[in-house]
Amino acid sequence: MVISLKELYGGLKVSLQNVTDSPDFEAKELLRHLFGITTADILMDRRPDLSEEKLGELETLVQRRLSREPLQYIIGSWEFYGREFAVGEGVLIPRPDTEVLAEQVLDYLKGKENPRVLELCGGSGCLAATIALEHPGAEVTVVEKSPEAFAYLTKNCEALKSGVRCILGDALDTGVVLGDFDCILSNPPYLSAKDMSELEPEVRKEPVMALYGEEDGLFFYRELTALWKNRLLPGGMLAYEIGMGQHDDVAEILRTNGLNNVCQTRDCGGIIRVLTGVKPADETLKID
Ligand SMILES: C[S@@+](CC[C@H](N)C(=O)[O-])C[C@H]1O[C@@H](n2cnc3c(N)ncnc32)[C@H](O)[C@@H]1O
Repeated sequence: MVISLKELYGGLKVSLQNVTDSPDFEAKELLRHLFGITTADILMDRRPDLSEEKLGELETLVQRRLSREPLQYIIGSWEFYGREFAVGEGVLIPRPDTEVLAEQVLDYLKGKENPRVLELCGGSGCLAATIALEHPGAEVTVVEKSPEAFAYLTKNCEALKSGVRCILGDALDTGVVLGDFDCILSNPPYLSAKDMSELEPEVRKEPVMALYGEEDGLFFYRELTALWKNRLLPGGMLAYEIGMGQHDDVAEILRTNGLNNVCQTRDCGGIIRVLTGVKPADETLKID
């Protein structure tokens, strides 16, 4: 039986609506990924050469999606700040909200010739590579503890020719990297125990190590701020992505660690998503 593209697309949407609020988008993404089919092809009902074998491959991917594997893992890459990053089991999928953190850091770096930038908890490398590529003079180092995530981090940073230095190590150990930095940024694990109990099935397939910020979700903000504030150059900026509703607590953590000009930035959904604090420029002594 010959199936038209419109019929195939329609059937896919019906299957996918059981697991997603965006069945049209996901159906198109699967068709694009597997067969290179575009929206224009669907609209014009072009008949691609879909062998039984190819349809079988599509069925396998649909079954994976119906078992609540994230679409991004199935496709094997996802876009962040206009570039593709390889993703799969073991690494956090880059989120659009995280682009707000990249933008804040890039704004801060404007006009600085060879700033030293450190990212803690690098995951796929979406932040580190973006900053290095969008601010070509920056010397960017990134630290990641999970060997599974680190494999994606190095692969992405190398594929994009970002020049980022990737370190497999613990962000809770300041011995992993030498020197002081103009900017230290992190999108650390920040979900609380309650958040973890309410996760969507797809998010449960992402690594716990990328998500869980201990009982109140604030563990990494407390630890990283206390540990790394002394590795900021005078006038240097510490920048965090934060979870919904964490802004007052994280602002307090920044201030009690001696950082000034604490600023917040909202994401497209109006949620305060990024907090930054600056080390006083006249700071000659280390902050206690
Ligand atoms: C929320 S994800 C962020 C990933 C990526 N930066 C992004 O924005 O998509 C947090 C990352 O921190 C890593 N991680 C957790 N604990 C860590 C630690 N102690 N040291 C270094 N990395 C850690 C996780 O493996 C995960 O890749």
